[in-house]
Parts: sequence; C-alpha cells; structure tokens
Amino acid sequence: MSPTLKVLVSDNISPEGKAILEETKGIEADVRAKVPPDELKAIIKNYHGLIVRSATKVTAEVIATAENLRVIGRAGTGVDNIDLASASKRGIVIMNTPGGNTLSAAEHTLSLILALARHISQATASIKAGKWEKDRFMGTEIGDRTLGIIGLGNIGAVVAQHAESMGMKTIGYDPFLSPEAAAKKKVELVSLDDLFARSDFITLHTPLTSSTKNLLNASSFAKMKKGVRIINCARGGLIDEMALHEAIVSGKVAGAALDVFEKEPPGKNPLLELDQVICTPHLGASTTQAQVKVSIAIAEQVVEYLLQGTARHAVNLPSVSPEVLVLLNPYLILAEKIGKFQAQITPGRMQEVHLTYSGSVLEMETPMIAMSLLKGLLEPILEEKVNFVNAPILARERGIKIVESRSRESEDYTTLLTAQVQTEKVLNTVAGTLFGKNEPRIVRINEFVTEAVPEGNILFVHNQDKPGVIGNMGSTLASHGINIGQMHLSRDQIGGTAISLVHVDGPVSQEVLNALQRLPHILSAIQLEL
Ligand code: NAD
Ligand code: MLT
Repeated sequence: MSPTLKVLVSDNISPEGKAILEETKGIEADVRAKVPPDELKAIIKNYHGLIVRSATKVTAEVIATAENLRVIGRAGTGVDNIDLASASKRGIVIMNTPGGNTLSAAEHTLSLILALARHISQATASIKAGKWEKDRFMGTEIGDRTLGIIGLGNIGAVVAQHAESMGMKTIGYDPFLSPEAAAKKKVELVSLDDLFARSDFITLHTPLTSSTKNLLNASSFAKMKKGVRIINCARGGLIDEMALHEAIVSGKVAGAALDVFEKEPPGKNPLLELDQVICTPHLGASTTQAQVKVSIAIAEQVVEYLLQGTARHAVNLPSVSPEVLVLLNPYLILAEKIGKFQAQITPGRMQEVHLTYSGSVLEMETPMIAMSLLKGLLEPILEEKVNFVNAPILARERGIKIVESRSRESEDYTTLLTAQVQTEKVLNTVAGTLFGKNEPRIVRINEFVTEAVPEGNILFVHNQDKPGVIGNMGSTLASHGINIGQMHLSRDQIGGTAISLVHVDGPVSQEVLNALQRLPHILSAIQLEL
C-alpha cells in the first residue's frame, strides 16, 4: 500500500475543495484558515502538498525547510506570493487555476469603472452622513469614452468584451499578444504611450513581475490625458502609489479605483485620504462562484499531481493538456531511459548534450522530452531530488549546454530520439525509438546497432569480437548463480569490437564485474540500472 500523502491548506478556500481533499483515498488533508509564517516554516516539512490563496507567503525560507513538498497549489491566478525560483530549484511544481476567477475579477473591474465614473462610494458615504449633496457628485458617462486595457489575458479580454457592450471604445497594450490574437478579442492593439495618450479610463490586468513593477509611474502619468481615471484590480505593485497620489493631487488624474495595494492591508497610505480614491480590500475574486471554482480546481489538480503525477496548469512546467500528455508519455519514458543510459556509460564532467528529434517525435512537445532526458541524465549522478521542474535548472548550474535539433531523417525507424553527450573525456551517442507505439528500445550505442529493452539491471560489456567470449561470460555468470534474462549483441565489423547488453535479475557484486573484466578479450564491463 502506498503511503498517505499530506496536504496542508493554509488559507481559506471553499468547502467544496476541502471535501475533495478529505474524501480522496491516499490523501490526508490538514485544513487551516491561517498559518503564521513561523509556524509554516516549522511544519511544512510534514507535507507533500500545500494549497494557498494570496495571504500565505511561500518564501525562500519556507521552501528551504519543505523537505517533502512536491506541489504548491494556488487557488487563484497570481503566484507572486510564492518564491518561484526557490521552489523550482527544489523540484516543487507550482500550479494555479487560470480562468476560475476571471469573470468575477472582470465584473469587479467593471463595477469599479462605473463606481468611479458616478462617485458611488463617496455619494453613499455622504448620504450615510446625513447629507444630500446632489451637486457635489457630477459624474461622467462611460459610453463612447476610451478604455485603455493594459494586459489582454483572461481578465483583460473579458473586461474588453463587457466594456464594449456598454458602448466603450477599447484599446489595449500587451507586448506578448499578436495583432491577430488581439483582433480576435476585438481590441485595437496600441503602444503603451498611445494608450496613455488616448485613454479616458486605464485598467491594469498584467501579472506583477520585475518588468511590470511600477508600470504606472510619474512619467507615465505625465503622458496621460488630464482627467484620466485609473483602475487596478490586478496587483498593487503595478502602480507607483506615491506617483499616483501626486497625479491626483495635481489634478492630472481625476480618480482611481483600487482593489489591490503594494502592501496589503495598506495601513496608513496617503492615497486613502484622497476623496478621489475608492477602494476594496482585494475583492476581485471574492464571489461565491469564483471561490467554488478555484477551490474545486486546485484540490483536483493537487490530488491528481500527487497521486498520478499529472501536472495541470503548472506555471513552472510547459503547459500540456492531459490528452497530449497521454500521447507524450511513451516519449518521456524513452527520453528518460536514454538519459539514464548515457549517465551510466559516459564518464567525465558533462559539457554538452545534443538532442536530435527525428520522425514522429517531431509532432510532440519537445521541451518536455528534453526535460525528461535531462532528468534521466542527472538523477543517477546527483544526490538531490531531480524532476522535470528542476532538471533544466540543475543542468544550467552545472554548466551543461543543451542543444536541440530536428531532422526529417529517422533512418529505419518511425521515430528516433538521439542524445549525444560530450564530457571532457568522451563523446557518446545513444539513440532510442518506440516499438509498437510505446515500447522503448535503445537502437544505437555509438557505432553499434542494437534493439535493447532499457529496463532493469543490465551488464554492459565491451569486448573484442573473438570466439568464446559469450560462452565465457555465460559460464562466469552461472558460476556466481546469476541468471541471464535477455541478451543483445552487436559488433562494428567481423573481428572488430562488440558490445553485449546482458539483462540480469538484480544488481551484481563488484566481484562479478571484476571476474568478467578478467576474461580474455573483454575491454570493459559495467552494470547499468534503468
Ligand atoms: P493572464 O495571465 O491571463 O493575463 C495576463 C496578461 O498580461 C497576458 O496576456 C500577458 O501577455 C500580459 N502581460 C504580461 N506582461 C505584460 C506587460 N509588461 N505589459 C502588458 N501586458 C503584459 O492573467 P489574468 O488571469 O488575466 O490575471 C491578470 C492579473 O489579475 C494578474 O495579476 C492576477 O494575479 C490578477 N488577479 C487579481 C484578482 C483580484 O482579486 N483582484 C483576481 C484574479 C486575478
Ligand atoms: C488572484 O490572483 O487570483 C487573486 O489575487 C484572487 C485571490 O486569490 O484573492
């Protein structure tokens, strides 16, 4: 029976997700609404999975003590509360739930645009204070006004659609979106400066990264129309809050609606003293529907990863749909086997790995295949846990150059994956294919052609092509009580050199290897574990 895997939920998620965790066999859920940072650091080593919203900060210090953690699930979109680099280095998969709260965040943005245009919050406060200030709250129509959308991903696109339906003209800036993709979203793609110059309302929908930090700053406000209104329902750090304060006080910006702040809760923030600023406490995704969707999604994703190894919506892995993953899996196994094979036959410090894809493998997601090969290559030689997430990072850190090339030629095979590994000592080439769609085979080891099954314990013997070598090997193994399961032989030319791949039932002792190496015409004998 496999051991129970423990999942900590450290922020408040909807009961539907908790129920999935609690009802899944093999998973033990520990659902806590809030875990203080020091406690998280102390207890995280007991868990294989962690589910958070935005309150829990998964810092490098937390990750340093997370010895058993395999996956961090974010019930929501933004993963800026998780130290991605530290988690990836440790091989921890990070996943989010894109789309689950898109509609809610977009609707909240629209609510803020309207509330800002018609002073809803200020007028509410005024009436509650016993006043009737009809003249004080002159609003502005939004129909026919231009909405500048920065970031045209999931939320930005829905905001555009809804704003259009209310008669707004929409323009957008997103450096990662092609004009064709923007046209499908029915948004005119413009430069950032153009957007600043033309917009009556500007709304932000990008992630917070080093390149989007303070995207709206003093110089951007200077380029905007006088009387522009700013909405931020994405992330606090996207706006330089002091610069926004100055722009409002100077009259350049007529008002701002903020759902998010650089520091949350914002504490004593001068923006909160301005009448032109309305705000909500990070409520974009706070609807019953969105919370149910993200809670169910993240619980299912984390369970699926822990129990089956399938990573859906992982932000630190190439995104592959479950359907594609089924097709890809045999290639991933083949690549990992080739990597493991190479790691065990190739002495010396690795300098370069050259991967060539030929035949049907070209139709697959080759970045995942390369990751799998690196995983196989590094696993036998590193103490630390190697997986898809950290294999490329570990390879880079070790100075291994990865070169990939594609070839239409696949010799006699429908698919062929070839890995050349260059160390300071040797250059070894190992190629593999799939028989009957998903049976991995090693078909070439340097100049030797074979059809070896890369599985289990294998003795890899290099010898001169002379009579009696195979017989001697058989007798030596038999004299040590070792049974031969299968054997694959290959030679470069008659009387040249040959290799034997001898499948045995378990690891053999050094004494057996020494006995083989002492036999006449044997050049080398090593054992492989695949
Ligand atoms: P998304 O990944 O679907 O879209 C982000 C878009 O930003 C992408 O199209 C990307 O190309 C674009 N982008 C990246 N860098 C950019 C740059 N420098 N300039 C312009 N565009 C850039 O994400 P999403 O689901 O639409 O979420 C958008 C933001 O909203 C995220 O920051 C997310 O964390 C936040 N969010 C907030 C709430 C809330 O409660 N307030 C709820 C959900 C999401
Ligand atoms: C998100 O990025 O999804 C939001 O910040 C929503 C949240 O979890 O509060």
